Amino acid sequence: LLGLETKTFGRNVVYFDSVDSTQKIAHQLAQDQAPEGTLVIAEEQKTGRGRMARAWYSPSGTGIWMSVLLRPTLPPQKAPQFTLITAVAVVQAIQDVCDIQVEIKWPNDILVNNRKITGILTELQADSEQIHSLIIGIGMNVNQQTDDFPEELLDIATSLSIAKGEIISRAKVVQHVMFHLERYYKIYMEKGFAPIKLLWESYALSIGKHITARTMNGTLTGIALGITDEGVLLLEDENGTIHQIYSADIEWSSK
Ligand code: BTN
Repeated sequence: LLGLETKTFGRNVVYFDSVDSTQKIAHQLAQDQAPEGTLVIAEEQKTGRGRMARAWYSPSGTGIWMSVLLRPTLPPQKAPQFTLITAVAVVQAIQDVCDIQVEIKWPNDILVNNRKITGILTELQADSEQIHSLIIGIGMNVNQQTDDFPEELLDIATSLSIAKGEIISRAKVVQHVMFHLERYYKIYMEKGFAPIKLLWESYALSIGKHITARTMNGTLTGIALGITDEGVLLLEDENGTIHQIYSADIEWSSK
């Protein structure tokens, strides 16, 4: 990764032409005491995974499929904030490299023209008191062209190259994501979540909108008010009751 401007992030790189999932490898490396900031990156994933046990389409040559290993000394309840920290870092990296309009859809989708360009998957190894290791998986669609997406993704996915109209350097995108991720990780560990929350809300699409949230326990609709200091989404239903949403898929409507 020539040109990388970080101290620790991406300084130890584990690269694969093809792998089942960089997430899985990063979990193994975490147990083998790999250093903080270790970056696992693959040209192709055979069984890339997304949130809620979904598959993540990770073909060869066009995307960025990577996992970063962190070891924050924090309780496990803080882990969801890392998805939001990463989202802010990815938005800024995309703005640096491509200068295109990007938005965040809570909790982990980065959208361009309302289509998904990046997904983030935060997983952890922890006990009830403390995180042992935190694995941030980032999947970015970079140089796919419309014809490259399978039919079921055509309406919901896009790539940086489609949005910008030119081929984008994947190495450059990785360098900028690593740079901002390291920067925001440091800010977060020193100053807490408040500065990140402000930035996150400035990029978020769903805040103030009428949304439907599908959670494990059912569906809720209402207005997305914002996120808490923990990164939890606040939704006000039509009776004025405010719900805290920890995990869900959201959609917004014009109501
Ligand atoms: C989502 O939006 O559901 C999250 C997708 C995360 C995909 C990335 S690609 C690199 C890393 N390895 C995986 O198997 N998944 C994550």
